[in-house]
Amino acid sequence: NKKHNKFTIGFSQCTGNDLWRKNMLAEMLTELSLHPEVDFHYLEASGNSTTQRAQVDTLIEKGIDLLIISPNEAEPLTATVKKVMDRGIPVIVIDREVKGNGYTAFIGADNVEIGEMAGQYLSQLIGNKGKVVEITGLSGSSPAIDRSTGFFAALNQLKALKIAKTVSGDWMEDTTKNILSKIHWQLKDIDAIFAHNDNMALGARKILNKYYPEKHIPIVGVDACFGEGGGLDMVYDGKITASLVYPTLGKEAIRTALDILKGLPFRKENKLSSIVIDSSNVRVMKMQAAMISSQKDDIYNQRKLLDEQKLVYKSQQVVLNTIIVL
Ligand code: FRU
Repeated sequence: NKKHNKFTIGFSQCTGNDLWRKNMLAEMLTELSLHPEVDFHYLEASGNSTTQRAQVDTLIEKGIDLLIISPNEAEPLTATVKKVMDRGIPVIVIDREVKGNGYTAFIGADNVEIGEMAGQYLSQLIGNKGKVVEITGLSGSSPAIDRSTGFFAALNQLKALKIAKTVSGDWMEDTTKNILSKIHWQLKDIDAIFAHNDNMALGARKILNKYYPEKHIPIVGVDACFGEGGGLDMVYDGKITASLVYPTLGKEAIRTALDILKGLPFRKENKLSSIVIDSSNVRVMKMQAAMISSQKDDIYNQRKLLDEQKLVYKSQQVVLNTIIVL
């Protein structure tokens, strides 16, 4: 198998429905379109760690040469990653972490730093004083833990700025809306909100608009996804004040996977930094995102064209052979 550079890569995604995950998968597929020799198996666990453990077993049964996994929660998936590694199958952990470092490579961003940057940005915005609400992601997932740690560290140094309340929105807009509706009176005199992602930031904006339409409390989110309705659009449209870029890294995951499979050098720990997107730079970011996405479409189309040409060539060969036989 490996001698012919034919590889099977499995990808276990914790959840698949939001734009951020869709962007990640699209990047992977674009990169994979350049490597038709690679078989790719994709399963997504809809935010359920038990489902994800079973799906990894399914991928192993399919006979994968390498696993890419974004673990829904760190604790329940740590043993799963170990099990795969113990079988001699390399594992790339992407975005969310497991406990310890028993994997082949990690690709993601520094979520403690993201939390810190959000804290610094918000405190400057509201003059280093006031009350903020924090909306966290799923409590067992590492980015939620790390973003909280960083946010807390940034605000801890400021005496006049308090985290008035922390609620968990489990990364989802609807959960956030439900929970904030129940405590909406506690939002009356707050000065800002930090949500661990843009989906929850949008949920918070909707609730604030419903109960306190006269106020425009600043909200900072994370992801800054490109694509319709993503974080870049939210900032551009003024629904949220700012968002921190959380890179999706689909292309990097596939490239690293191929390096590992081909025995080429690779880096084990890959943690990217973020940047703040707000009204000062959102236009430029949107333009860049549009350019990149059209390049991606180009690659797709070229690949399709090549495949079509191959087909035409093959059928011409058939015609030729038939003529020769005749
Ligand atoms: C997408 C998402 C992002 C968030 C990331 C954390 O599923 O919820 O919004 O930044 O996962 O792992």
